[in-house]
Amino acid sequence: MNHWTPENIPDQTGRTALITGGNSGIGLETARVLARHGARVILAGRNQARLDEAADAVRAAAPEAQADTFVLDLADLSSVRDAAVRIAETETIDLLFNNAGVMNLPERQTTRDGLEMTVGTNHLGHFAFNAQVWPAVNRSAAPRVISVSADAARWPIGKLDDLMSEKNYRAMGAYAKSKRANIVYTLELARRTAGSRIEALVIHPGAAMTGLQQHGTGALSRIVTSISARLIMGSASGAARPSLYAATSPQVRSGQFIGPAGRDQTSGTPKFARLPKGADDQAEGERLWAASEQLTGVTFTPEP
Ligand SMILES: NC(=O)c1ccc[n+]([C@@H]2O[C@H](COP(=O)([O-])OP(=O)(O)OC[C@H]3O[C@@H](n4cnc5c(N)ncnc54)[C@H](OP(=O)(O)O)[C@@H]3O)[C@@H](O)[C@H]2O)c1
Repeated sequence: MNHWTPENIPDQTGRTALITGGNSGIGLETARVLARHGARVILAGRNQARLDEAADAVRAAAPEAQADTFVLDLADLSSVRDAAVRIAETETIDLLFNNAGVMNLPERQTTRDGLEMTVGTNHLGHFAFNAQVWPAVNRSAAPRVISVSADAARWPIGKLDDLMSEKNYRAMGAYAKSKRANIVYTLELARRTAGSRIEALVIHPGAAMTGLQQHGTGALSRIVTSISARLIMGSASGAARPSLYAATSPQVRSGQFIGPAGRDQTSGTPKFARLPKGADDQAEGERLWAASEQLTGVTFTPEP
């Protein structure tokens, strides 16, 4: 394909996209672009005021767009269940973006259910949400699930043993684990839905200055982040391209890992990314699936 840009996105009229973390950064940009191409978007996030502001921003970019909001706190399994069950009763979700995330929490924190916060939000909250919202995804004629991982998934400290960081907590280690889990989960979902119309893809967006960098371990870390951000980081609109490409391109296939075109995310077509070593190991996928069911108390059988 020649140089892909979001302008190449086919008409999305009649399709509904649900985006976790749709009120900020990459998620908001993904919503804006899909809405401009005719999709109805549902922004899911933990704060109604921020969601309302984001829905206004989507409508400003795409005045004809239907932008709805849904409160969903991924760090609270009862909120996840309530949101998922209500959506599953009535909606059809064609594009499900597991996009929300937190990073670099200085001290080990836990979710309402006692799960380590970074993995609890970035992976386990999404796992439980996907499982319970699945009837809405299954109603679609051509559903795609897109999970937003990160380059950090390749770091050796991101191995999935000690998933809850009970033995040793390192802020970016927990983030790397959560982002590796996004990949391992997606590849296992792709295996479990193989041969069906369901497609599961995972992306990494490159780097962009967004709300994600708000947690630092101290003033120095924040200064370094802010300087490096200006020097090397791209924009949320560039970083949304792999998500948009994975969601709408006819060229992609279930089980693929897609990253940005290059350091300059806007200079070409998003391309296949190198998987973290062992992330496509089926035994690791099965182990993570079983651990996710056990930790969340939610069984997920993604039968098409
Ligand atoms: N920016 C980068 O350089 C970069 C690089 C690699 C990967 N990523 C990935 O890209 C994704 C999007 O991040 P971003 O850069 O766009 O950051 P962002 O602007 O901070 O967006 C993150 C979103 O997640 C939401 N969120 C956080 N905790 C939540 C919870 N408990 N329940 C529901 N929603 C929650 C946030 O909501 P609030 O507004 O309420 O906090 C926000 O809408 C993340 O998965 C991140 O790991 C980003």
